[in-house]
Amino acid sequence: MADEPGFQLKGSAPERYEQYVAPLMAPFVTALLDAVDLCPGDVVLDLACGTGFAARAAAARVGPAGRVHGADVNAGMLEVAEARHPRQYPDIEFTQAPADRLPYPDATFDAVVCQQGVQFFPDLTAAFTEIARVLRPSGRFAATAWTEMTRSPYFSTQYEAIKEYGGDELAAAYTTAFACSADRLTDALGKAGCRDITTREITFGIVLPPLVDFSPAHLSALPWGQQIADAHGQEALTAAGRSIADRLADRAAPDGSVTLPFTATLATATR
Ligand SMILES: C[S@@+](CC[C@H](N)C(=O)[O-])C[C@H]1O[C@@H](n2cnc3c(N)ncnc32)[C@H](O)[C@@H]1O
Repeated sequence: MADEPGFQLKGSAPERYEQYVAPLMAPFVTALLDAVDLCPGDVVLDLACGTGFAARAAAARVGPAGRVHGADVNAGMLEVAEARHPRQYPDIEFTQAPADRLPYPDATFDAVVCQQGVQFFPDLTAAFTEIARVLRPSGRFAATAWTEMTRSPYFSTQYEAIKEYGGDELAAAYTTAFACSADRLTDALGKAGCRDITTREITFGIVLPPLVDFSPAHLSALPWGQQIADAHGQEALTAAGRSIADRLADRAAPDGSVTLPFTATLATATR
């Protein structure tokens, strides 16, 4: 599955994803879970769970009476999710499954969340139809997806680096991560029969550690960075990451940290 299109990582990249993507995801996970108003005892699915950021946070919210499932197509991401499961909460069950063929009975979940996964689903309406099937009546759904790249300067800088070191085709593939607009989400949720559909933008200023080390490491945790390393070698990947640091050097604070805005669409709906 690592060679499928979309967001697929292989080798040790899921471990790096867990470490280096976490700072970008953390505030969005909080907003995502707030949007489905989780209660103790709720049964929750984190779809396209990756290494489990939202699943772990959901487990803390639903408490010992609740249950959390995580589903993702990528076995390597799920291995890291299993390894990082703190096991201080009752249950997080991770399962390998595509979004449009979920292995759960009808009406299983009080809430389904999906953090930065929808843009990679090959058929968004089929995935949302499947989500509606596994939600209980009046069950809640929330998803985040990055807005257009230019709203998040780190990403537009990363795009330039990918283009310079990986070429136009790879840079075009990178834009998939920013291609799921609010209109597209609303349209697909409507076609899937969901109700109470809302979308809004959420922006967080995120403090990144000094970019000279962070940017190459973060890029190595993304499929497009892996492809630069595969095609042009590890040195090219490091140079691409360093070029992000160079391009954003004027934004660095005296301690080297860089605070930048990141903007996502938050979509919500009920079954
Ligand atoms: C950017 S990562 C987001 C992971 C995680 N939700 C997070 O917050 O970090 C995208 C995830 O979507 C998963 N994915 C891509 N296509 C999928 C599909 N069709 N069905 C299920 N998961 C999919 C990938 O394997 C990857 O783990």
